[in-house]
Amino acid sequence: MVATISESPVLTQDELKKIAAYKAVEYVESGMVLGLGTGSTAYYAVNRIGELLKQGKLNNIIGIPTSKKTEEQAISLGIPLSDLDTHPVLDLAIDGADEVDSYLNLVKGRGGSLLREKMVEGACRKFVVIVDESKMVKTLGGSGLAMPVEIVPFCWNFTATRLQNLFAEAGCVAKLRRVAETGKPFMTDNANYIVDLYFEREIGDLKVASDEILRLAGVVEHGMFIDMATTVIVAGECGITVKNK
Ligand code: 5RP
Repeated sequence: MVATISESPVLTQDELKKIAAYKAVEYVESGMVLGLGTGSTAYYAVNRIGELLKQGKLNNIIGIPTSKKTEEQAISLGIPLSDLDTHPVLDLAIDGADEVDSYLNLVKGRGGSLLREKMVEGACRKFVVIVDESKMVKTLGGSGLAMPVEIVPFCWNFTATRLQNLFAEAGCVAKLRRVAETGKPFMTDNANYIVDLYFEREIGDLKVASDEILRLAGVVEHGMFIDMATTVIVAGECGITVKNK
């Protein structure tokens, strides 16, 4: 007799992102003012909110988008939109992240929307982060991937050099983000540039690093989101894990 082994299907990264996003949308209630995140994971959450509105399962939602791209998506789905001037306090925001550490600190902004994300998500009573398990890290900035910093275009090289020098001990290399197709500097929704910091070694205390970056004239904001997430939903091959602050 031949024994057959049933293979359990392996979920793609996109499927995991969608699972995390749908789980986060379970936190949404009618009447809420919502921060709408940016990126391929947040995309699924925004779509789901639009779907539930259309089905009449959610009502009176007001969305505050964290980028022009998300704004366009929300408009196409018929999600009513507002802004922080009108709604300075939000009930809930849902967004992805590039890295999440065990304290639920985040790196965000590899999609380039970190400033609006930080403004909107900093104004929320609850901030739910949605990631697939590949985003979980031991130390922020330790994955060898970019730590984005939004800077003004004026003398960008001067600011990039100062950022690199600030973290010389961590073997930092600062690179201006460029559009792959044109080679031109990547421009944020706020008409600023992004400098990506790459570290060879750990950067140490995140709050100290944050303060030092923000003290540099020319810097607008950085992609470390310290003590901001209230919940992180991680979708992995073994299921969903919900981590609360
Ligand atoms: C955009 C962001 C995104 O949330 C982050 O880059 C994660 O994106 P994705 O869900 O596509 O992996 O911070 O500025």
